[in-house]
Amino acid sequence: MDQTTAPADVPTPSAIPARSALPDPLVAFDGTAVETADEWDVRRRPEIQRAFEHYVYGYAPDAPAIEIGTGQSTAVLDGRATLEERTIYFTDLPADAPTIELAVFTPADRDSVPVFLGLNNGGNHAIIDDPAVTITDTAAEFGVEDRGVASEYWCVEQLIERGYGLATFHPADIGPDRDDPTEGIQPYYADLPGPAPTRWGTIAAWAWGLRRGVDALLENPRVRDDGIAVIGHSRLGKAALLAGAFDERIDLVVPHQSGTGGVTPARDNDQETVAAITEAFPHWFNDLFPAFGGRPERLPVDQHLLVALVAPRPLLDTEGTRDYWTNPGRALDSIRAADPVYDLLGEDGLVGDGLLYGDDKVTAGTVGTLAQYRRETEHTLNQGYWDAILDFADLHLG
Ligand code: GCU
Repeated sequence: MDQTTAPADVPTPSAIPARSALPDPLVAFDGTAVETADEWDVRRRPEIQRAFEHYVYGYAPDAPAIEIGTGQSTAVLDGRATLEERTIYFTDLPADAPTIELAVFTPADRDSVPVFLGLNNGGNHAIIDDPAVTITDTAAEFGVEDRGVASEYWCVEQLIERGYGLATFHPADIGPDRDDPTEGIQPYYADLPGPAPTRWGTIAAWAWGLRRGVDALLENPRVRDDGIAVIGHSRLGKAALLAGAFDERIDLVVPHQSGTGGVTPARDNDQETVAAITEAFPHWFNDLFPAFGGRPERLPVDQHLLVALVAPRPLLDTEGTRDYWTNPGRALDSIRAADPVYDLLGEDGLVGDGLLYGDDKVTAGTVGTLAQYRRETEHTLNQGYWDAILDFADLHLG
């Protein structure tokens, strides 16, 4: 089966050989071994990408023409940070197409810093309690009412203090989180590769939106071009991982508690199964993925290969010990199964067993470019996680 181009017909899952183990990242679909970095880049990486588009997330459009609006720049956090609000317009799409309302917080006293880019579910105004932050139209419709309610989740003061920026927008700028194909950016793209059931779902659309955020950040002199990290929590962590897997301009990836459809494999997953996720959230994936419900062993790919696509770039998988639904143990298996690709590409990948907990120090001796870090929490993001994430970023983005 040649998956480097989109086949016209979609083989049914029963026509795909069953494999109960996670597919070997270094064996191509035709059964041949992948032995060099060049073979990985030229042959294996693209075929894995096509397979994820084809069987799981759907095919996203190429990079569109964009224009970045001027918007406001203003001092926030008692003058310690600069907030820039920039609208991203899709200039080749009709005037009523969605826009991205990007908010970028950077330290006021630095010229150019590494920046974490992440989708936020509350709205940009939920990040800090400051009337300077615009309540965007989508955030007014889909976000929270009160300003600053997510401040202990995004910890932007801590980021600023440590010399990082945060860039963010509401996912509904790209498409609301519901099963209505007439909403968001998707209806503006009629011609995409692949047969109808492989049309992109919402996670692919969000990931594509994140990549448009990267487009804008690369034009921003306050942002270091080689310091773009992408983070996301849960469903938005699935999107962050997908963006990182496809976009090599992203320098570091933090899928936080991303679960099924994120770092956690479909195979041997006794928590959220493919059947469960595609029934509860049919719009997240393409229309072919649900056919693997009850038979994930027929998937040509599994989520460790999405992690492998990030290689050789650093990835920290952050998980909560009591966040059972995301299945941190299986996520760790996924990380470990991706490690051989880091090795092949000349990175140290996992150090030791690749797992750090709580107060374990994230330093050059304890982590490589790939690791899982766990805290004693349920399904949430907080300062403790950010301490580890920023230590990891210090190591790799310097
Ligand atoms: C549900 C869903 C998960 C998802 C989570 C979230 O629990 O089953 O797959 O990650 O919502 O986004 O919080």
